[in-house]
Amino acid sequence: MSEQLQAEFQAAFQAEVDADGRIEPRDWMPDGYRRTLVRQIAQHAHSEIIGMQPEGNWITRAPSLRRKCILVAKVQDEAGHGLYLYSAAETLGADRDELLDLLHTGRQKYSTIFNYPTTSWADVAAIGWLVDGAAIMNQVPLTRCSYGPYARAMTRVCKEESFHQRQGFEAMTVLANGTPAQRQMAQDALDRWWWPSLMMFGPSDGDSPNSAQSMAWGIKRFSNDELRQRFVDATVPQAEHLGLTVPDPELRLDPETGSYAFGEIDWTEFYAVMKGDGPCNRDRVRNRVAAHEDGAWVREAAAAYADKQARRAAA
Ligand code: 3HC
Repeated sequence: MSEQLQAEFQAAFQAEVDADGRIEPRDWMPDGYRRTLVRQIAQHAHSEIIGMQPEGNWITRAPSLRRKCILVAKVQDEAGHGLYLYSAAETLGADRDELLDLLHTGRQKYSTIFNYPTTSWADVAAIGWLVDGAAIMNQVPLTRCSYGPYARAMTRVCKEESFHQRQGFEAMTVLANGTPAQRQMAQDALDRWWWPSLMMFGPSDGDSPNSAQSMAWGIKRFSNDELRQRFVDATVPQAEHLGLTVPDPELRLDPETGSYAFGEIDWTEFYAVMKGDGPCNRDRVRNRVAAHEDGAWVREAAAAYADKQARRAAA
């Protein structure tokens, strides 16, 4: 392609993004735009399927049939979110098997939040309330992402995340209004999950190498710190409603802005967990690889059936 034609395509692409338009799979797009989307969508998908493990550990130990049914539905939803997102990545030319291999070999990331253990039932409640609450804060703007398939996948994901967050908050409400031991469980879970949930929004803006370009391309609509602040401002009143204490002695409401100042995140912990030194990193990836290997026969059977159907249709 001539430099002039490339420049014309680039200008038309950026004009579409700047006009809040949608870029579709068959449209021309800069290689960097494609690469950034594959990176983010793949790691988003990895997070969804790894995220099934912390809560999945509690399906056989849920405190009632009702809670078990809700939890099964939620964990199944996460698998479906992974499916939508891998499919969105495939519209960019990514190969799903290659993406999974990058996950299995530690060459692509998933959200640090899923490397923490779920040591009590209250953790399952706190994950729904805080982790899915943070996910909603981050994913709603993605429904207006410039890349069509990603934005559309997010629309359905966010509807299901709302159920996830509500069921978590309801479970926290039951514990917070329960026996003293249950209240303590709820408080302990808030203490364990509060700061790792703030880390879900990524490094602070000054340390985010991808944000500026992602915002120029209409992939990111708000900065990491903006969305983190929105999450804190929305969630602290919920904790107060539960009668629980957010584990941050520096939390202060600014009555003029209605916003909360909060303490410094432990970025050493964040980068250590991202690097693979979290409490559960090895278990999560080992379980993931085992599940992939155990499921090989299902993929082979489905592929054989599809192949037979295709040959029958072609005959
Ligand atoms: N865990 C692991 N890695 C993280 C991270 C986290 N919490 N936050 C940031 N990172 C990584 C980024 O991937 C990037 O590394 P890379 O260049 O190798 O990919 C690096 O840290 C620098 O971060 P940036 O802010 O520059 O990177 P991004 O612009 O990609 O922003 C993000 C990070 C905000 C997570 C963005 O990728 C995003 O919005 N992703 C989509 C949402 C998502 O993936 N959420 C994860 C949780 S999914 C979930 O919660 C499911 C729910 O059902 C429970």
